[in-house]
Amino acid sequence: DDPKDLKPRPPVVTVMGHVDHGKTSLLDAIRHTGVAEGEAGGITQAIGASQVKINGRVITFIDTPGHETFTAMRARGAKVTDIVILIVAADDGVMPQTIESINHAKAANVPIIVAVNKIDKPGADPTRVRQELTEYGIIPEEWGGENIFCDISAKKHLGIDNLLESVLLEADVLELKANPDTFASGFVLEAKLDRGRGSVATVLVNRGTLHVGDAVVAGTSYGHVRAMLNPKGQNVKEARPSDPVEILGLASVPMAGDEFRVFTDDRDARELAESRALK
Ligand code: GTP
Ligand code: NA
Ligand code: MG
Repeated sequence: DDPKDLKPRPPVVTVMGHVDHGKTSLLDAIRHTGVAEGEAGGITQAIGASQVKINGRVITFIDTPGHETFTAMRARGAKVTDIVILIVAADDGVMPQTIESINHAKAANVPIIVAVNKIDKPGADPTRVRQELTEYGIIPEEWGGENIFCDISAKKHLGIDNLLESVLLEADVLELKANPDTFASGFVLEAKLDRGRGSVATVLVNRGTLHVGDAVVAGTSYGHVRAMLNPKGQNVKEARPSDPVEILGLASVPMAGDEFRVFTDDRDARELAESRALK
């Protein structure tokens, strides 16, 4: 893309961490914050991704990629996250899946913001979490390192605003941009066969704008976008860079991590999908 065609786009954030350290609770708290801000805040009902608006700026959260999905997607070259929030319970400290999460984020070359969670608990020791993480090269800014640390309680909704502001700060540093004025491409986050609706794929748009009616190839699947739903489950006519949407209309079910792409020529699209299916 010509630099003059690039426009700012929202950051895409994935929350990772050890089992029960509070990933889902954090996403719930974040959605609540977003909703409290007004109509623009989104609640994930329909799809495994959500968007919240903080100080007038959108942040996209990907809910689904557990470690396996994340690894599989990365192995297939799918770039689906700009920032990882590493959540570590302050009473539990660094655990095996904390270390796995760090390794995933490092391999994907994605900045890590640490959310030290459960600071409301009696046994919470945020300083110990910081010390433990230094062993893995995650060093707080206040100790001269590169990682932002935010102490939070997802349950009591403490420190959530500060964490979201830190995400926006990190996003500013990354200067995330994409060209919205071209044919859309991106990645499939999840897909399923729905009784009644047929093939349903949740995709993240990386570049361009996706429209209802577009001819799309995703992996070996092909079709025209019949309808699109945003994370609130509302019908939308278009999806722009960093927007997650559910698309209906593919003839088969693509795989998580498949790239999707819009074609101007129907026959090109179908031929590409068919040639891939033969391999
Ligand atoms: P998995 O999806 O199973 O890996 O867990 P998770 O990381 O999504 O954790 P989840 O949000 O399910 O929270 C696990 C437990 O910790 C639940 O009982 C939560 O209520 C509790 N919990 C989460 N955040 C906090 C917190 O800030 N303080 C306290 N006291 N409990 C919390
Ligand atoms: Na849990
Ligand atoms: Mg969970």
